[in-house]
Amino acid sequence: PVITYTQPNGNQQTVKVEPGTTLMRAAVNNGVDGIIGECGGQAMCATCHVYVRPEYAQSLPDVNDDEDEMLDCTTAERTENSRLSCQIKIDSELSEIVVDIPAGQL
Ligand code: FES
Repeated sequence: PVITYTQPNGNQQTVKVEPGTTLMRAAVNNGVDGIIGECGGQAMCATCHVYVRPEYAQSLPDVNDDEDEMLDCTTAERTENSRLSCQIKIDSELSEIVVDIPAGQL
């Protein structure tokens, strides 16, 4: 599967990952700016906030309660496309995804 991260300035970075990798882990491992993952993927820090492009959003599991709570604590504005990238795993059913990284998440 491949993940494409879009920076606020429009630069895109596409990375190939093993199935089962979270979007946060893949970003951190590949040095993608703007995704910190401070809590290590526990849905406790909100520094991995991304906006999932709507065409991919319906393939994802719903936001659970922990994620929902943390999404209210993000630096950038929460929108209906907001997700915590540590709670999104890419797998065989979802072979590609494109996300936008919020501005100011450093
Ligand atoms: Fe902390 Fe996702 S890495 S909430």
